Amino acid sequence: MKSLKIVGTGRSLPEKVLTNSDLEKMVETSDQWITERTGIKERRIADEDTATSDLVADALVKACRQGGVEPDELDAIVVATSTPDTVYPATACWVQKKLGISNMPAFDVSAGCSGFLFALEIVANLIAAGTATKAVAAGGEVMSKVVNWQDRATCVLFGDGAGAALCVPGDGRSGILSSTWGCDGNLAPLLYQPAGGTRMPTSQKTLDRMLHTVHMEGNQVFKHAVRTMSDSARKVVREAGVDIGEIRLLIPHQANTRIMEATLARVKMPPEKMYSIVHKYGNMSAATIPVAIDEAREEGRIKDGDVVVLTAFGTGFTWASAALRW
Ligand code: UT7
Repeated sequence: MKSLKIVGTGRSLPEKVLTNSDLEKMVETSDQWITERTGIKERRIADEDTATSDLVADALVKACRQGGVEPDELDAIVVATSTPDTVYPATACWVQKKLGISNMPAFDVSAGCSGFLFALEIVANLIAAGTATKAVAAGGEVMSKVVNWQDRATCVLFGDGAGAALCVPGDGRSGILSSTWGCDGNLAPLLYQPAGGTRMPTSQKTLDRMLHTVHMEGNQVFKHAVRTMSDSARKVVREAGVDIGEIRLLIPHQANTRIMEATLARVKMPPEKMYSIVHKYGNMSAATIPVAIDEAREEGRIKDGDVVVLTAFGTGFTWASAALRW
């Protein structure tokens, strides 16, 4: 077991709510189609002046406050995002600037919707190595600024938000019982943003063709998501040496209710063990798991000693799962 305790969590969600009926006025879609295919009813949208680091900084401050740590006492800040404020420096650096803090390593992880679990794995290893004793793993996205609002197949799916977890060494009982992470870059073209990098720098042509927005083969993503999340979740449950009955909660990446339910069925867990927030926030990519953890803790659905399984899947394709004893 990797000794680790999450002693504070926080979330930040923009105030503006975009409902399915709002979307009916923007593209040819319906509340019924979105609800049946995805389970999403509404999502939050950041205003023009808000970037990913603003949401992450807010979530980080809340997590630190809950854990009784000042942000400038942190030994490391790891931010998972696919929608950074700028190509460089990392969004984590803009978080530091916003909070007026320095003197700790702060960097981003680009692993799509699996990003928060990648960040948590990195933080757990920093703590295990003695490199850090107080570190934040965060996930934040402003997906609304990289979505093509004329493409009904993608624009209805995503939302904005951020979540953060303050991690310290475990108390002897709590920690990561088992974890796994992986990536198959051969599948990268199935979900990506073609333009804006060095392969296809932004130009008038890329802007005209909307190549700086999300491009996705939805059906392929769906299939791989269910397979990799359930396979990796089953692996960590097996390696954690716990019974399915002992698991208090499964928190999957919140992309779509059908993906989540199919994953749950393959892990052979009853529906009441799955925690879901996708109906109110949509797919916030790297932010879905830390926001869900924060809400589940607030509602008393996660208590000290509980075993919780986290599982995610994303662009890359990446995947990751972890079984934690809280
Ligand atoms: O974190 C990972 C990020 N990615 C995801 O989570 C996406 C995973 N994929 C999915 O969730 C599903 O593939 C979608 C929800 C995106 C699509 O559901 P689907 O059951 O795979 O639908 P489809 O793509 O096969 O499209 C079915 C029909 C098509 O019409 P035709 O060709 O059958 O006439 C689409 O044009 O639904 C149409 N359609 C829509 N209709 C109304 C696609 N988007 C919409 C829409 N409203 N928003």
